[in-house]
Amino acid sequence: MKVLLVNGSPHKQGCTNRALEEVARTLEDNGVETQIFWIGAKPVGSCAACGGCSTKGACVFNDCVNEFRELAAGADGFVFGAPVHYAHAAGSLLGFMDRLFYSNGRAGKPNVFRLKPAAAVVSARRGGTTAALDDIQKFFTISEMPIVASRYWNQVHGNTAAEVEQDAEGLWTMRQLGRNMAWMLKCMEAGRAAGIEPPAREDGTMTNFIR
Ligand SMILES: Cc1cc2nc3c(=O)[nH]c(=O)nc-3n(C[C@H](O)[C@H](O)[C@H](O)COP(=O)(O)O)c2cc1C
Repeated sequence: MKVLLVNGSPHKQGCTNRALEEVARTLEDNGVETQIFWIGAKPVGSCAACGGCSTKGACVFNDCVNEFRELAAGADGFVFGAPVHYAHAAGSLLGFMDRLFYSNGRAGKPNVFRLKPAAAVVSARRGGTTAALDDIQKFFTISEMPIVASRYWNQVHGNTAAEVEQDAEGLWTMRQLGRNMAWMLKCMEAGRAAGIEPPAREDGTMTNFIR
């Protein structure tokens, strides 16, 4: 079992990374392999709405998004982390997720997210965390991904990793998140071993509300 954790901050070793490290360490302690994926320090652009992914099966901009999708195919669960910028999740992480999720499962390529558990984690100096969590979690609910919860909001506070180190409650929340995700992954594995099939998918109609 493997969980991929995305650091959506321009800081490789910053606050978001510190929070993700706590989740990753707890997952490892509970027998789950982990990998932290950093989206990099350069701004990551959002979807150009060109539709190219519907024929390519990947984003036309060949960057960290396509790199991550390849890794995601082999993962069983995900944690997406971001700093709060102007009371929302950092734009680069949202751009990354827009292109990642929009290009997923197209042109005959596998859906790398369906029914895989996911969690959101955010870091802020002071405010905007719950709006940022909401930003990230909506990608999961539209993608049939069960959301893993903790015992409080999945957030840490600080401007530097050293400050996050002092946020005992934030790190405690991250550890509980790691334990809960490991448990959910093991439950799903046991379910598969017991022959429980994934739910059927029904082909739907896109109505777009055009009259
Ligand atoms: C452009 C920008 C906007 C920010 N806006 C907020 C904000 O609205 N609320 C807040 O508490 N912190 C804000 N911050 C501070 C970061 O959220 C905080 O330092 C965060 O923990 C940094 O995480 P990182 O080290 O993973 O990048 C902002 C930082 C930047 C660079």
